[in-house]
Amino acid sequence: MIEVKNINKSFADKKVLNNFSGYFETGKMNLIIGKSGSGKTMAVKCMLGLFSVDSGDILFNGRDFINISEYEKTKIRQEIGMVFQGGALFDSMTIEDNIMFPLKMFSGLNIIDMIDRVNFCLNRVNLKNVNTLFPSELSGGMQKRVAIARAIALKPKYLFCDEPNSGLDPSTATVIDNLLKEITYEYNITTVINTHDMNSVMEIGDNIVYIEDGKKEWEGDKRNFLSSGNKKLNEFIFSSKLFKKLKSAI
Ligand SMILES: Nc1ncnc2c1ncn2[C@@H]1O[C@H](COP(=O)(O)OP(=O)(O)O)[C@@H](O)[C@H]1O
Ligand SMILES: [Mg+2]
Repeated sequence: MIEVKNINKSFADKKVLNNFSGYFETGKMNLIIGKSGSGKTMAVKCMLGLFSVDSGDILFNGRDFINISEYEKTKIRQEIGMVFQGGALFDSMTIEDNIMFPLKMFSGLNIIDMIDRVNFCLNRVNLKNVNTLFPSELSGGMQKRVAIARAIALKPKYLFCDEPNSGLDPSTATVIDNLLKEITYEYNITTVINTHDMNSVMEIGDNIVYIEDGKKEWEGDKRNFLSSGNKKLNEFIFSSKLFKKLKSAI
């Protein structure tokens, strides 16, 4: 589980995170949702230690992630898998080398075991016979699967995905969402997903944190999401394409 407690982050005089908090449970799909520019990516970058916070606490399974050395941070980071916005594969490396990259850095496995692990991960995301191809030879959805395979290569305890289905058509987006959900449940991972897509929220969310202007405006179980009574959250929900479509269908 990951606990984020009252983190603040400013650039010059712009407050990007304003006492942001969230509780992200093990084995659950924890979603940070909000409009574009609300601070989702920055919240996750602070949780990964890519940006330092001005104040506040972040705990990974109870372990302090703020007041520790870079060396200790690196150790916790090895327990984290990431799927960046846009996939972020290395274009000049084959698919096999992309997935092997974190294994070479941190696993200590020999080459045969590394290739075994690569193939296991590719198989887990339902890809076969793509080892020697380059990212540009795959569709957007397949690239996203490779990014997921790479993110799970080191058997992470935590998985962060920033807008994992951005740029995908709706049916591919659903496939990717469901794959992330299956993997989260199967390996009991604490998964944190940033999204502004209401389809994803309804389909795969377990816990939801709603962020607006860097502030947590609502947090709860998806079962209470539509009946929260929270004005800001409702505005976000009912301005989404999904709900406009539903309204016009009634
Ligand atoms: N490196 C940065 N320096 C200054 N401002 C930033 C930086 N990164 C993001 N911001 C600002 O922080 C706010 C939140 O951005 P971001 O976290 O990317 O939002 P989201 O992911 O929800 O779309 C935006 O106003 C953005 O301009
Ligand atoms: Mg973002």
